[in-house]
Amino acid sequence: MEEKRSILVLYGSQTGTAQDVAERVGREAKRRHFSTRVVSMDEYIISELIQESIVIFVCATTGQGDEPDNMKMFWKFLLRKNLPSDSLHQVKFGVIGLGDSSYQKFNFVAKRLNRRLLQLGGHSLIAPGLADDQHDLGPDAVVDFWLKELWEKLLTMYPLPQGKEMISADVCPLSKYRVEFVESVSEKLQYQTEKISHFHGNIPSQKNPLYAKLISNERVTAADHWQDVRLVKIDITGSNVSYCPGDVAMIQPANLSDAVEDFLKLMQLDANQQFVLSQNDPDVLLPYQLPQPCSIRHLVTYYFDLNAIPRRWFFELLSHFATNELEKEKLQEFASTEGQQELFTYCNRPRRTTLETLSDFPHAVSSIPFKYLFDLLPPIQSRAFSIASSIQAYPNEIHLLVAVVKYKSRLIKPRRGLCSTWLANLNPKDGVIRVPIWIVRGTIAFPTSPDVPVIMVGPGTGCAPFRAFIQERATNNIGGNVLYFGCRSSTKDFFCREEWSALVNKNLLKLYTAFSRDQEDKIYVQHRLAECESLLWDLIEKQGAMFFIAGNSKQMPDAVKDALKKVIKDGGEFSEEQADNYVKKLEKVKRFQSETWS
Ligand code: 2AM
Repeated sequence: MEEKRSILVLYGSQTGTAQDVAERVGREAKRRHFSTRVVSMDEYIISELIQESIVIFVCATTGQGDEPDNMKMFWKFLLRKNLPSDSLHQVKFGVIGLGDSSYQKFNFVAKRLNRRLLQLGGHSLIAPGLADDQHDLGPDAVVDFWLKELWEKLLTMYPLPQGKEMISADVCPLSKYRVEFVESVSEKLQYQTEKISHFHGNIPSQKNPLYAKLISNERVTAADHWQDVRLVKIDITGSNVSYCPGDVAMIQPANLSDAVEDFLKLMQLDANQQFVLSQNDPDVLLPYQLPQPCSIRHLVTYYFDLNAIPRRWFFELLSHFATNELEKEKLQEFASTEGQQELFTYCNRPRRTTLETLSDFPHAVSSIPFKYLFDLLPPIQSRAFSIASSIQAYPNEIHLLVAVVKYKSRLIKPRRGLCSTWLANLNPKDGVIRVPIWIVRGTIAFPTSPDVPVIMVGPGTGCAPFRAFIQERATNNIGGNVLYFGCRSSTKDFFCREEWSALVNKNLLKLYTAFSRDQEDKIYVQHRLAECESLLWDLIEKQGAMFFIAGNSKQMPDAVKDALKKVIKDGGEFSEEQADNYVKKLEKVKRFQSETWS
């Protein structure tokens, strides 16, 4: 019997790049007449995996070697000890990893996944492709090559069906969805107040967020400080949201109204026009985020990510609609393998947004069929923030510490982070403002016992999860909390200062501060750790303290870890190797944990 020509592409994606690559694999499979589904790992019914014939896994490695959020359940299941070692004997698989070689655990997740699939009896079609963000051409440098080899192999094993030819990349693919414009029907506004009552008995999730009321978003850095950090307070009264210190709030942001207006104008769309979506491909489900019918204003405000940096596929698809020769040539060049360096210079380096890119191709833009917008523009991704409050201290609130992302590139307009800018622009004085939110577990697990001392290192907004934990302990009058906080200046960005000093006065907190720019030489949290060697060694060795790091993921976590190793080496009079092993042991028993973000 002829084997089924069917490919499942499963992805674990944090920022959307892995999803992008997964979708590309899906498109290329369809051009070769494979029946194809592309699904995020946590949306896939994992018990069906044993029946699949070909599965391509695309997974990112985040932070310090962690799997992406939408892969966590899948991965936990796959790691179960009681899975028979031949569970996947029917499955042929390939793994593409997306990583960044400037991090220590480069493509750690993909490598582990590949090993586990082999252990479970799966048959590897091809060695894992380990793509690197640091490469000049981005992940495509590896992905292109890997896919070429994969298709050669697969087409030998599963030749094209009789009488069929491979569909050329020059043929515009079918749109994901069909669109029907309908007469205006009153659309339920997304942020209606009733939504909140909808949640009795329901735990909010990505598919069903809580539309929680914004209480405030006060700036906590000085007005003349370079960075705008907000303490965002959200009201969860009446919902059944609960959370613990260490948990993470997911926020689903929207586009800013000026971007929405610019896009509507550029595309010449009528904001009030309503439409209904239907499937155009049995393998592609309709987007759960959109109401039916939906207005174009709603779609453009809440769904399309106008701020995303367009990827290679965007140019390829757009080239199909280009009527002007010059534009077409440029788009085709950006879509080609040879054009990747130039695309990087045009898009990635200056962080050019989709909206800005579209306006550079006015002729193509005016001929994009509306339904293809769903293929061109990615949906807005939710963003994760470590919760900065304790539900015991603030029973009906969630607090977040949000650094508003704004920086310069070669382009004149400053670059802005979509979610943080959106949050910072919300003004509770404008009426009831709602923020779509749900909670997920973070990577940090704090001790439940009041007797365990806790050492926390959280420069900048890294102190967020520690504020939650310290508040929770303080509410219960529990001390043993040591916090190392770092910022640039004692007068500009030392946020939460009053809160900390009140707790210090009550003997519930020991606080060490590192103000990096209040003197000539930089002082960082790791320098403060080095100054407290005997205190820290005593806490760790004699009192069984736990050690936590949170914050920006570039050099800080490694530098802090090195400082901790030095404390241990000197305290225990150990060799380098013994100190290394000591830290490894702490990690293993979760007495050393970190949560970092970029
Ligand atoms: P800097 O910006 O003056 O270099 C919060 O962002 C604080 O973390 C700031 O004081 C910042 O200092 C500091 N910081 C930057 N890089 C760091 C590193 N590698 N290790 C520790 N702290 C760092």
